[in-house]
Amino acid sequence: MKILAIETSCDETAVALLEAEGTLPAVSFQVRGNALYSQAEKHAAYGGVYPNLAKREHSANLVPLLDAALTEARWSVADTTPITETQYTFLEELLMREPALLAALTGYCATHGAPDIDAIAVTHGPGLEPALWVGVNFARALAALWDVPIIPVNHLEGHMVASVVHEEEGVYSVVSPGFPMLGLILSGGHTEFVLAKDWGSYQVVGATRDDSIGEAFDKVARLLGIPYPGGPGISKLAAKHRSDSATNMVQRAVSIPELPRPMATADNLDFSFSGLKTAVLYLVRDLGELTEPQRAAVAAEFETAVGDVVVAKTKRALVTHPAHTFVIGGGVTANRYIRKRLQELFEIERYDTTLTLPAPDLSTDNAIMIGMAGYLVHLRGEPALSWSDELRASGTLSVDPNRTRNERL
Ligand code: KG4
Ligand code: ZN
Repeated sequence: MKILAIETSCDETAVALLEAEGTLPAVSFQVRGNALYSQAEKHAAYGGVYPNLAKREHSANLVPLLDAALTEARWSVADTTPITETQYTFLEELLMREPALLAALTGYCATHGAPDIDAIAVTHGPGLEPALWVGVNFARALAALWDVPIIPVNHLEGHMVASVVHEEEGVYSVVSPGFPMLGLILSGGHTEFVLAKDWGSYQVVGATRDDSIGEAFDKVARLLGIPYPGGPGISKLAAKHRSDSATNMVQRAVSIPELPRPMATADNLDFSFSGLKTAVLYLVRDLGELTEPQRAAVAAEFETAVGDVVVAKTKRALVTHPAHTFVIGGGVTANRYIRKRLQELFEIERYDTTLTLPAPDLSTDNAIMIGMAGYLVHLRGEPALSWSDELRASGTLSVDPNRTRNERL
């Protein structure tokens, strides 16, 4: 099955082309084209993602990225896509708030024919609603022009699927040892445990009560003068502190007080990160102008505190919900220290559970994972939509049908 995948839930605009094969558990994917544009630098000036800017950037970049992906795959067809009057009226209405996207798309259709694809997978939630709408409407527009069905994908299912594929010579195969599977989403928007009986059958069994883990990284980064997105910057500083400490280059004077490990010992699977962020705020205020080694020490203590919380909660989650597979997904899983802490935990505890980690390039937002999840949605027989069916973007979409909104547990 040839899938065109579109991701616009936050500040990454991404289009990927995949060829998917097989039935579960023997599913494999070949990525034929992959085009991704990160808007992070543009949002850095605002200190975080600015929804209207994200929406504008998605509108401006989707057609060039589609073109790049189709060209890379050699699926691009030099021809024209005829647009009937009825289709044009539909497109005009659909993309009413996206005139630049409408113009770029009709321009593209003048020189490109319909590629040979079987379905369009698109993220319809959760995420920033204005950003999601651009991707959803773009998918519907392409579906109308090329007469292909749409598979709506939950972004968080994409993150989980990204954790269980193993790449070898360009072929990604699903390597999950099976169900029940426990997932831990660690992203910019979410921090939650998801218990899965099967693909598509999810229950959220723990979640953050306030900030997400990614937000904590980004907010603490700001306090330390690291531009958005702060996760990678904190990670680098913390690694420097650890290696300097190991080689005794850091003097004792740099040691800083311990930060709290919020809810690490609480008898539940919930998280809380806002107190940790506030503790960093007070610490930074008390320390005054930070020296470079102090900045690095604060970053390391913060990352260690977060790692301690993730490990403590994972231990508790695996006792409460013994699972065959433990998957992690979301941008923060790109963090080397947190990956290492989880790997160490699984080595020490010798669980009967296999830990799977997403490849670093599939950890942060991308369209490949959306195409993969779209194929699983198709395999489980969920009906695809036609361009004329209603498809709404939902900022608060949950993987758990009993939680229509991402309300706190
Ligand atoms: O999954 P993602 O790309 O977008 C959402 O779905 O939210 O996650 C983005 C988050 C940001 O908060 C970013 O700072 C964080 O992932 N992140 C990291 C690292 N790389 C990205 N956090 C810690 N360490 C990293 N290396
Ligand atoms: Zn994400």
